Amino acid sequence: MASSSSSPLFFFLLFLSVVSAVKLPLSPFAHHTDKSTNDPYLSLRRLADSSLARAQKLKQPTTIKPDESALSAVSTASATVVKSPLSPRGFGGYSVSLSFGTPSQTIPFVFDTGSSLVWFPCTSRYLCSDCNFAGIDPTRIQRFVPKNSTSSQIIGCQNPKCQFIFGPNVKCSGCDPNTRNCTVPCPPYIIQYGLGSTAGLLLSETLDFPDLTVPDFVVGCSVISTRQPAGIAGFGRGVESLPSQMKLKRFSHCLVSRRFDDTNVGSDLDLDTGSGHKSGSKTPGLSYTPFRNNPNVSNSAFLEYYYLNLRRIYVGSKHVKIPFKYLAPGSDGNGGSIVDSGSTFTFMDRPVFDLVAEEFATQMSNYSRDKELENLTGLGPCFNISGKGDVTVPELIFEFKGGAKMELPASNYFSFVGSADNICLTVVSDTIIGPSGGGKSGPAIILGSFQQQNYHVEYDLDNDRFGFAKKKCSP
Ligand SMILES: *[C@@H]1O[C@H](CO)[C@@H](O)[C@H](O)[C@H]1NC(C)=O
Ligand SMILES: *[C@@H]1O[C@H](CO)[C@@H](O)[C@H](O)[C@H]1NC(C)=O
Ligand SMILES: *[C@@H]1O[C@H](CO)[C@@H](O)[C@H](O)[C@H]1NC(C)=O
Ligand SMILES: *[C@@H]1O[C@H](CO)[C@@H](O)[C@H](O)[C@H]1NC(C)=O
Ligand SMILES: *[C@@H]1O[C@H](CO)[C@@H](O)[C@H](O)[C@H]1NC(C)=O
Ligand SMILES: *[C@@H]1O[C@H](CO)[C@@H](O)[C@H](O)[C@H]1NC(C)=O
Repeated sequence: MASSSSSPLFFFLLFLSVVSAVKLPLSPFAHHTDKSTNDPYLSLRRLADSSLARAQKLKQPTTIKPDESALSAVSTASATVVKSPLSPRGFGGYSVSLSFGTPSQTIPFVFDTGSSLVWFPCTSRYLCSDCNFAGIDPTRIQRFVPKNSTSSQIIGCQNPKCQFIFGPNVKCSGCDPNTRNCTVPCPPYIIQYGLGSTAGLLLSETLDFPDLTVPDFVVGCSVISTRQPAGIAGFGRGVESLPSQMKLKRFSHCLVSRRFDDTNVGSDLDLDTGSGHKSGSKTPGLSYTPFRNNPNVSNSAFLEYYYLNLRRIYVGSKHVKIPFKYLAPGSDGNGGSIVDSGSTFTFMDRPVFDLVAEEFATQMSNYSRDKELENLTGLGPCFNISGKGDVTVPELIFEFKGGAKMELPASNYFSFVGSADNICLTVVSDTIIGPSGGGKSGPAIILGSFQQQNYHVEYDLDNDRFGFAKKKCSP
């Protein structure tokens, strides 16, 4: 990114060896290809189910009682309440490799903008239960081995970084608050995701990039997890996230098409530490919309999300009239839209989804609806397009504050199913009524990674705005 706005020479003269941008390869999670099934309905169903489970967790990140068995496996320290954000993909996620330690050990992580802790499977005794899904072999999940690293240190309970996860009121039993020289470790964390969980202890480690070293980085050393294909690189707004700890000015990515799931095709995740960028400068070609302030509510998990100002949804030329309470969070913090790389399919609260789905059904009424397939996949509407030749689907457009429009390519919101005689809208919802109905809380609309394929997407943290442009992300 630096090279787009400043020449390498200028950069060299002014900043000498200061590195302003880091490029990391980002690729669809390799074991997404669900070799465990040849049933195309089943794999789509699983993607839909995991997208929905994640949405439910994002929406209700209420305090979870620590799982006693998990806790006792971590340590016998007093049980602690933990932030409980979202779910990683069982499939449907993107992977990025990071190097930690001295000498460094390189481990793949699931890239996640909807949660904040960075954690790796840790120690040779790491336990992962229910992890043999989607062709994953739990014994081959890569682990970090702290004892092989001279820079690994357990974060102490009175270390201010312990508060990253536990807040200012962390209980340090046996410690004298006046001396602050206590050797008791920071309590174990437990994080619940949509379809799984992880638990461990916080470490201070060195995070290594080819031309940049980040000392004293807080990373979770997880010793037990359920349903996790790998560690997670949290890119949310929390203080413990990678962008927060590295004080990134912005980060951006281009998610290659899910068609490349079973190949090594990937694209870069760009981390901009800022020294090469003029403050306020826009990346040429991107449309920007300001991030929306996070709702000011006691549920701190909502503070980790990237809220957008979604203003309008169009299906074809039709403006679908979404009640405002779904587009913007209310004073109770419920409603509004967020962008989340850890969700596969976009989620919409039922009333929003019904309006959008109905509009597609109306405009596509000359194709026959396949409700049985909707039952099988958990997606809808689905249509039988057999013998119809070229199929035209209405456009799906998200318009944001400031006028930025995301005019999605059809492959980002319709998927062929099975023999390609059928197509389904790849947006999920649940049966629970949204903010109005009182049942559900949290964001009403969650923009998932499937909708961001072949887009250059930028999180401009310095200027608090979200930028995007259509772009072919693969060679
Ligand atoms: C850690 O060190 C041991 C012994 O030197 C070695 O066998 C093992 O492969 C190392 N593990 C990693 C992940 O570096
Ligand atoms: C902490 O400091 C106090 C007072 O200086 C001292 O008595 C105590 O032994 C120290 N504890 C540790 C674990 O170093
Ligand atoms: C957030 O809410 C708290 C308590 O309701 C209030 O004291 C504080 O001023 C609010 N902050 C902002 C930025 O509105
Ligand atoms: C469906 O209707 C639209 C317009 O009403 C038309 O453009 C399209 O060709 C029709 N498709 C089929 C398969 O009949
Ligand atoms: C879909 O599933 C529901 C509930 O399982 C059932 O009542 C309904 O008849 C099914 N519809 C079709 C078309 O299979
Ligand atoms: C789809 O439509 C074709 C032609 O109209 C029909 O032969 C086929 O049975 C339909 N498929 C399903 C799954 O209903």
